[in-house]
Formats: sequence, C-alpha cells, structure tokens
Amino acid sequence: MKKTMVMTILTLFTFFAVGSAYAGGKCPQPRKTKAAPANVVKMDKTAKADAAKGKAIYDKTAKPMACKMCHGAKGDGAGKLGAALKPKPRNFACAETMKSISAGQMFHVIKKGSKGTGMVAHGKTLKDDQIWDVVKYIRSTWVK
Ligand code: HEC
Repeated sequence: MKKTMVMTILTLFTFFAVGSAYAGGKCPQPRKTKAAPANVVKMDKTAKADAAKGKAIYDKTAKPMACKMCHGAKGDGAGKLGAALKPKPRNFACAETMKSISAGQMFHVIKKGSKGTGMVAHGKTLKDDQIWDVVKYIRSTWVK
C-alpha cells in the first residue's frame, strides 16, 4: 500500500515535471506563417488601443475559442489545444522569433488567419479596433 502511494506520487511528479518543461514553448520557433503585404506590416495602431480589452479577448471572448487555449495564458504557445497542433502556436515570449514580427503583421494574421496552420481568421468575429487591442495586449505583456 505504502509503496503504491510512493509510486503514484513519483508518477504524478514526473508528469508535472515533463508538462512544465513543455510550457516554455520552443525558442527560436519554426514559423509557417507567411509575411503580410508590406504596407500592412508597417501599420501600427496600438498607440490608441486598449490592452485591458485585449486581455479579455485573449483570455475569454475570442471566437471560436479564446486565444489562450492555443497560445497559452502566459503567451508561450503552450495552451492546452496547442500541444496537438502542427505547427505549434506562436510563442509570443520568444524574443528571437518575435523580433521580426511587427504589430501590423500580427494584425493581419489575426484578421485573415494563417493558411496551413491552426490559426483561424477572426475578421468576422472581431472588429479592427478589437484586433489592435489584442495586439497591444500581447506586445505589451510578452514581446520584449
Ligand atoms: C486553434 C489554435 C489557435 C487559436 C485559438 C489562436 N491561434 Fe494564433 N496561431 C496558432 C498557430 C498554429 C499559429 C501559426 C504558427 C506558425 O506560424 O508556425 C498561430 C499564429 C499566430 C500569430 C503569429 C503571426 C506570425 O506572423 O507569426 C499571432 C499574432 C496569433 N496567432 C495571434 C492569435 C490571437 C490574438 C488569437 C485569438 C484572437 C489566436 N492567435 C488564436 C494557433 C491558434
């Protein structure tokens, strides 16, 4: 009986240790998403955007599901659904990958989606202002 308990605890411990090792997401990350048109890449309307509203979209209200389900509550690409995807969701906390991804690029992909990946288009469920809010939330929270 005692031995079984010890084994159970060890198994649980290993499970969580492995789980949290994944939690960081890969960095640098392979990236399947294509570049947005040059004029959109240069766009940036985050100055007037609202990061708090963006957080609500990211954590809860985005459709068909919250961004965090894939990109993770910490923005590291380690959301519950993300683990099953190929390619993996973007790890926003990975400076090496994110340094070449502008606000405009993010806006474009959130609006139009990324072909051949799990990243769906949100152009019909989010207004442009709301997309800028979520871009601001992601960039001000994780992109360093
Ligand atoms: C079903 C899982 C899933 C959901 C939900 C999801 N994404 Fe993604 N996202 C992905 C995947 C997969 C990629 C592509 C990774 C790659 O390029 O290799 C991606 C890519 C991105 C990129 C990267 C663009 C680039 O140029 O590299 C941004 C920004 C992004 N998502 C933002 C969001 C936001 C904001 C939401 C919520 C409104 C969201 N995503 C919801 C899976 C998801």
